[in-house]
Amino acid sequence: MRSASRTVRIGGRLRVPGDKSISHRALICAALGDGPSRIRGVLDSADIRSTAGILRTLGVDVPPLGGDMRVSGVGVRGLREPGAALDCGNSGTSARLFAGIVSACPFTSRLVGDASLSGRPMHRVARPLEAMGARFTFEHGDGLPVEITGGALRGIEWQSETASGQVKGAILLAALVAGVDATVREPVRSRTHTERMLAARRVSVRSEGTTVRLDASTSLSALDMTVPADPSSAAFFAGLAALADEGEILLENVCADETRTGFYRALARMGASVELSAIRDEGGEAVADIQVRPGPLRGITIAPGEVPSMIDELPLLACLAARAEGETVIAGAHELRVKESDRIAAVVANLRAIGADAEERPDGMVVAGGRAPLRGRVVTRGDHRLAMAFGILGALPGNEIEIDDPGCVDVSYPEFWVHLGGVLR
Ligand code: S3P
Repeated sequence: MRSASRTVRIGGRLRVPGDKSISHRALICAALGDGPSRIRGVLDSADIRSTAGILRTLGVDVPPLGGDMRVSGVGVRGLREPGAALDCGNSGTSARLFAGIVSACPFTSRLVGDASLSGRPMHRVARPLEAMGARFTFEHGDGLPVEITGGALRGIEWQSETASGQVKGAILLAALVAGVDATVREPVRSRTHTERMLAARRVSVRSEGTTVRLDASTSLSALDMTVPADPSSAAFFAGLAALADEGEILLENVCADETRTGFYRALARMGASVELSAIRDEGGEAVADIQVRPGPLRGITIAPGEVPSMIDELPLLACLAARAEGETVIAGAHELRVKESDRIAAVVANLRAIGADAEERPDGMVVAGGRAPLRGRVVTRGDHRLAMAFGILGALPGNEIEIDDPGCVDVSYPEFWVHLGGVLR
C-alpha cells in the first residue's frame, strides 16, 4: 500500500520514440516516392524493421533505421518482384499495408509472419483488395501465410465494417500504386496518417466525416519530414504520472491528432491533469507537448465510439482502472480480441493474477479499482503493450509484479524500461 514514506514521485521531460504508425507509412511513402526522401525520428523497433526489410525484399535500397534517414524512392510503379517471402514478423500494420501495395503489383508475393501475427485476420483487407481485382490464396484460415497475385486493379467504393487505419491504409495504398480511385467509408473515423501523408505528397485525397476519397494518381512526391513521438508510447508515462503521488511529466513533440488522443481525454475524465500545449503542424500531422500531473483517479465508462481513438491504450487504461476509485467499463472494443494477443482475455487474466478485480465481457471488460498491493506474475503472451501496461503498475511502491517477457517491448519501444527508470524520482 502507498504510504507517506513510500510515495512515487515522477518528473522531467521525455521525448518517447517516433510514432509507429507514421514510421511505417513514412518509409513506405519514401520508398514509393519520386527521388530521394529524408525522414528524421523514425522509430527503430522490431515492427519498423519488418517494414524496412519488406521494402528491401521488394528492391528498395533502405538503409539501416536511424535518426536521420535518406531513402531513394523507386516511384509508385518501381517495386520489383520479390525473390523471398515478405516477412512481417509481429507487425499487423506491415501485413495489412503491404497486402494493399503488392495487390497492385504485377507479380505474386508471399506474406509470412510470426505465430501471433499468423493467427490475426487478413480477410478484412483481402475482401476489398479482391474486389479491386487481386487474388489471395490462404494456406489455412484467413491468417498468414498468404500468397497474393497482384496486377491491374479497378477503383473501389468500400464500406468497412470496422474502423481500422490498417484496412483504410491498405485500400488507399493499393489505389495509389494501381493508379485508380478509391473511396473508403468507416463506422467511426480511424487514424488518418495514410491520407495525411499522401495529401502532403500532392496526392488528391479528401476526408469528409468518416469517408475518405482518393483520386487516381500517377506519382508521389519525395518527402522531408520528422516523425512525431508516439502517443501510444507516451501514454504509459502519462498513466504513471496520473497515478503518482507527486510531480509532473512533460511529454514532448507527441502526435496529437484527435484520432490518436482518446486516451488522454479519458485520463483527464478519470481525474488527472492533462494539458496539451504548443500545438503545431508538422508535415500534415498535429503535434503537441503534453503535461500530465497526478489526480485522484475515478472509474469511467469508455463508449464504443471512443474506442478507435485509444485502441492501443486500452490495456493501459484497464491497468490504471485497477488503481482508480470505482468501476471502469470498456464497451464496444471487440477489436481488442484480434490484436497482438486477445487483449480482453489477456488483460483480465493478468489483472486477476496480480489480485485486481476484473471481468471479461464479449466486447470489453469491467475493472473495479482498489488499493491493496498488486502482486504476481504477468504472462504477456509476447504482447508488447501488455508488458508496458503492467510495467507501469509494477513501478508503484508496494506492488510486486513480475513480467514474464520484458524483452517483448522491442516491438514498439525498445528503450521503455530505461525510460521508466529515468522518470521516477
Ligand atoms: C494501426 C492501426 C490500428 C492499431 C495498430 C496500428 C495502423 O490497428 O491498433 O497498432 O498503423 O494503422 P487497426 O487498424 O486494426 O485498428
